[in-house]
Amino acid sequence: MKKDNPFTLTFGKQPNEYISRYENTDTVISTFEADNPVSQAYLIEGIRGSGKTVLMTSITNELGKDKDWVVIDLNSTQDLIDDCAMRLLDSCKRFPNIFKQGFSISIAGFGIGVDGNDSPKDSVSIIDEILSSFKKHNKKVVITIDEVLHDDNMRHFASQFQIFVRKNYPVFLIMTGLYENIYAIQNDPALTFLLRTPKIQLEPLSLHQIFKQYAEIFQLGEEQARNLAKITKGYAFAFQALGLLYYEYRDEMELDAILSKLDDMLDDFVYKKIWMSLSKQDKDVILSIKKENTKVSDICKKLNMSSSVFSRYRDRLIKRGLLMSSQHGYVSLTLPRFEIIAKSYE
Ligand SMILES: Nc1ncnc2c1ncn2[C@@H]1O[C@H](COP(=O)(O)OP(=O)(O)OP(=O)(O)O)[C@@H](O)[C@H]1O
Ligand SMILES: [Mg+2]
Repeated sequence: MKKDNPFTLTFGKQPNEYISRYENTDTVISTFEADNPVSQAYLIEGIRGSGKTVLMTSITNELGKDKDWVVIDLNSTQDLIDDCAMRLLDSCKRFPNIFKQGFSISIAGFGIGVDGNDSPKDSVSIIDEILSSFKKHNKKVVITIDEVLHDDNMRHFASQFQIFVRKNYPVFLIMTGLYENIYAIQNDPALTFLLRTPKIQLEPLSLHQIFKQYAEIFQLGEEQARNLAKITKGYAFAFQALGLLYYEYRDEMELDAILSKLDDMLDDFVYKKIWMSLSKQDKDVILSIKKENTKVSDICKKLNMSSSVFSRYRDRLIKRGLLMSSQHGYVSLTLPRFEIIAKSYE
């Protein structure tokens, strides 16, 4: 790869060529910064490669510019409460004048002592103590959990978070996840507050911004840049992958050859994984869609499916971010070139 290629295939970190999601970013930030926030938590839902982690990171980067915000990133495969306590302790170092005497931090082999007298405290009371100090000093904490799972770990953490919110602590939470995982945690009867938690369902990136970015980087005319942008359908990973390949090969290859490389990348990085997570019927529905705006009645006929059965699959595939229905009675696949690549999975 050319050294100065500005595009990246790396997941999870804010890329150099970044297409802003102004509205989403603004919604979360203004909610969290309100005097009386309507919610102290936000969920970001979207298919693989749609840009969940990048959006979450760009929101916390933005918040973190303000010295009153403390950002804590948790790892959903670790014990969330312990991890949170450790990271909060770590963040205390940034505020030596808040946490002076009596907060001498010692992390022993087992148990963590925060006050002078060495009695090991459990993670919950450490978090409680730190949040209460932050509150006194008008600091706010935003906790992120990338790729939430519906497990006991999450259940414990979420119910504890709810208690901290009830205590009026300045603590906020952003979580990302796939539709099925978010659905499971939001519908857990033990976690009813999550049902009310606002959710961002990631939409495709702005084709207009993609077009402008491609036009500028590749010095393309309007039509050519628009065509290139359209190929991505606004899918975040495709924007990077196509950009990367076009940058690399535009002088030596035809577009078709570049697109064939793009298909390999889409397949390898995301589509294969998405395909594996689908049920047999979901796959059949997807395979029956061969072009933009396929007629629902044609699909039903082909699959020998009643329209009410079909609409169940359709609704779920829409929620997962695989299907869209731009006009009544018609559906299209959301992801770029999925129909071409899925053929090889048949
Ligand atoms: N706003 C954006 N502008 C430009 N590129 C983006 C944007 N958001 C994401 N990307 C690119 O898309 C790819 C996937 O992004 P990200 O890791 O955020 O996806 P994800 O939804 O978290 O995926 P996964 O479910 O696999 O974790 C990365 O290559 C990233 O650089
Ligand atoms: Mg991610």
